[in-house]
Parts: sequence; C-alpha cells; structure tokens
Amino acid sequence: MVITRMDLFEAIASRRSIARLGEPAPDDEQLRRILAAAACAPDHGELRPFRFTVLRGPGLVAFGNVLEDAYLARCADRGVEPMAAKADKERTKLGRAPLVVVLSAVRSMSATVPWEEQVAACAAAAQNALLAATALGFGSMWRTGEVCYDGRVKTALGLRQEDAMVGFLYFGTPLPDGRVRRPRVTDLDGLVQEWIPDH
Ligand SMILES: Cc1cc2nc3c(=O)[nH]c(=O)nc-3n(C[C@H](O)[C@H](O)[C@H](O)COP(=O)(O)O)c2cc1C
Repeated sequence: MVITRMDLFEAIASRRSIARLGEPAPDDEQLRRILAAAACAPDHGELRPFRFTVLRGPGLVAFGNVLEDAYLARCADRGVEPMAAKADKERTKLGRAPLVVVLSAVRSMSATVPWEEQVAACAAAAQNALLAATALGFGSMWRTGEVCYDGRVKTALGLRQEDAMVGFLYFGTPLPDGRVRRPRVTDLDGLVQEWIPDH
C-alpha cells in the first residue's frame, strides 16, 4: 500500500478534475481509506446519509447498460428520437475510469436537520473522498448529469425516489488527455466581506 504524506493544503491545491483515468485504480484498502475519509465529513445530527455504490470490472460495464436504458426511457418519456451517439456515450462513459463510486444521499425525516443539510453533508463527503484519493496519489473526478436525477437509475441503485444521487466519483491513475488546464483562480476578490455592525 502506498502511504503518502501529502500536506492537506497541497492536496487541496493539486486536486484537479482528470477526465481520463486508467489503471491502477485504488485497491481495496486504498478504497476503504478513501470512503472512510468521505464518511468523516461533517454530518449534522450524525444521520450518516452517505451511501457508496462501488462500480468496477463487470459491474462498471453492466451499469453502463442501466445508464443507456435510462437515456432511452427519458427519450421515450419526452417523445423524442434517441441519438445513437448519445446512447453509446451513456453506455460507455463510466469506462473513463477503472473505478467509479456513486455517492448517494439517503434521506432521513428529521425535525432538526433539513434535507438540504443531508445533501450538503454528502457533498462534503465527496470532497473528502477526492482529497483522500489525491493524497494517495490518484486522479479523480466528480461528475453528475441527467442520470443523477433519473428515478430509474435511483431504483437500479436500490435508492428510494426521495433519496438523491450526489455524483459519480471517478478514480484511477491520470492518463494524458491533451487538455491545457486553466490555472486555478486563487484570489478571493468579491468573495469575502466582513460584516460590520451599523454602530
Ligand atoms: C456537483 C458537481 C457536479 C459536477 N459534474 C460534472 C460533470 O457532470 N461533468 C464535468 O465535466 N465536470 C463536473 N464537475 C466537475 C467540475 O466541472 C470541476 O470541478 C470544475 O471544472 C473545476 O475543475 P477542477 O476540479 O479541476 O478544479 C462537477 C463538480 C461538482 C461539484
């Protein structure tokens, strides 16, 4: 197992969305560490809304069929002709990494913790997972899209309609993608104010 000692600020600054990822993917122990880091996210009421569905190997390929079928069904619902290229993309897009984790938020009825905060906890979990993967030397990317709002895909994941898919987290080793990355915007212009009382 690779143990890295990346400083937290270095991990935050160096994490970038990597569109093409290959082998090696995080192994079982590395994945456990990534998901354990995710589940350490701040979680109002300790409701533990995080659910992780691991897709790899045959599962990754087969879930592509779920995404394609969902696309075809969305087209049928809307009365539009499906596009072959789009159907192909839905079926194959998970192949952009050897390991994909679907992060979902399972809704609790709580008198004190609104649903938005449960989803926010899952967003914090996603970032923890991406940073943990970065610290372990892996590339990653958080993706969403229409599939995240498709009830059929939720059902395929064993979720209820009131639950939410927060994203597809892709993990692996960065492959060259020919992209020129814009440097990060690091200034805080317009983002920060200090509130000062009138008197
Ligand atoms: C909720 C969420 C959904 C995202 N969905 C997509 C997506 O569907 N496709 C995509 O290319 N990037 C997606 N991203 C990644 C962002 O586009 C990416 O983080 C942004 O371009 C900044 O790049 P960086 O991650 O390298 O800083 C998503 C990010 C978030 C937080």
